[in-house]
Amino acid sequence: MRPQSQTRPLPQTRPLTVLGIESSCDDTASAVIRSVPGSDPVILSSVVWGQTELHADFGGVVPELAARAHAEKLDLAVEAALSQAGVTLDQIDAIAVTAGPGLIGGVLSGVMLARGIAAATGLPILGVNHLAGHALTPRLTDGVEFPYLMLLVSGGHCQFLIVNGPDQFTRLGGTIDDAPGEAFDKVAKLLGLPQPGGPAVEREARMGDAGRFALPRPLLDRPGCDMSFSGLKTALLRARDGVVAEYGGLRVQDRADLCAGFQAAVSDVLAEKSRRALAAYLELAPATPVFAVAGGVAANQSLRAALERAGVAAGARFLAPPLALCTDNAAMIAWAGIEQMRAGHASADFVARPRWPLDQTAAPLIGSGKKGAKA
Ligand code: KG4
Ligand code: ZN
Repeated sequence: MRPQSQTRPLPQTRPLTVLGIESSCDDTASAVIRSVPGSDPVILSSVVWGQTELHADFGGVVPELAARAHAEKLDLAVEAALSQAGVTLDQIDAIAVTAGPGLIGGVLSGVMLARGIAAATGLPILGVNHLAGHALTPRLTDGVEFPYLMLLVSGGHCQFLIVNGPDQFTRLGGTIDDAPGEAFDKVAKLLGLPQPGGPAVEREARMGDAGRFALPRPLLDRPGCDMSFSGLKTALLRARDGVVAEYGGLRVQDRADLCAGFQAAVSDVLAEKSRRALAAYLELAPATPVFAVAGGVAANQSLRAALERAGVAAGARFLAPPLALCTDNAAMIAWAGIEQMRAGHASADFVARPRWPLDQTAAPLIGSGKKGAKA
């Protein structure tokens, strides 16, 4: 067993094996990453236990249920991650844990477990911003250079970030209400489709006519990169009610057309805002421009194609990490910890925070949807 100390200096240049812990929303996750300077990092394990079924009856994540489930399973997830990686705690150099933003009960479960392991082993511990985990993933998967442009687009997040360094982010804009995935989920609910709504809506949209219903493209008339998706969902509700009033119910084709119209509207908004974000990013004259996306919504083929077109038209390489690393996971948290340790920025002095904007200078985003704070 290691001496009990929180003050051991964090190693910056030697090989590092870091344990990651993530519990800020509805995934209980733990991972082990090994990083050797000069070589590509290796994900030794990545355990993600989702809670979709637990929340299925409630139409959204129930914070108390999520926190309890994390508290019950996190230690098992850590054990599974260590065993799948073939390492013991003696071979771990540090623990990186999500310290926010997110649902505070879940975040606290992770932070308390990490502090417990640190107290028992003497391992250094660092609190990682969940959004930094997403934002730094393109460096884990593809080793891209700073600065790059990132669009986080999931059920809980939607923001454009210029990633300048391991903890240097410029937020160009974000949603002021719902995240797009949240809107997909609500639309699915309105149309009687299963959760999570994104894949179901995408499936229906393939058979639909996107031009039949005139749905709005919110905030496109305003400059900048902020977005809004809640009015779009309300517009869809009105269109649905119009159909029901006219035909006495929703026919198969009506549903497909509504899905196609909604998806096209989201796609138009994200693509236009991406063009604006790309223009702002390219003003920095990056040597090799990169436009990366992360988050579950990036799985949508038609949205992804629209984002790729916007990136390529601007002369940027388009990058979408594998889906398992786009959605919530602990490998990204371990990796963000490694990046921050290597930069000498890591600190054991942190608290669990429901809100934690990456860009402290940007005006706060006002949205806070079913999956917690947006920033
Ligand atoms: O990143 P993620 O797994 O979890 C967080 O939100 O943190 O994203 C899940 C979200 C859900 O809202 C889901 O409906 C959406 O991503 N999603 C999609 C698709 N697949 C998942 N949205 C649109 N199209 C999809 N194919
Ligand atoms: Zn996330």
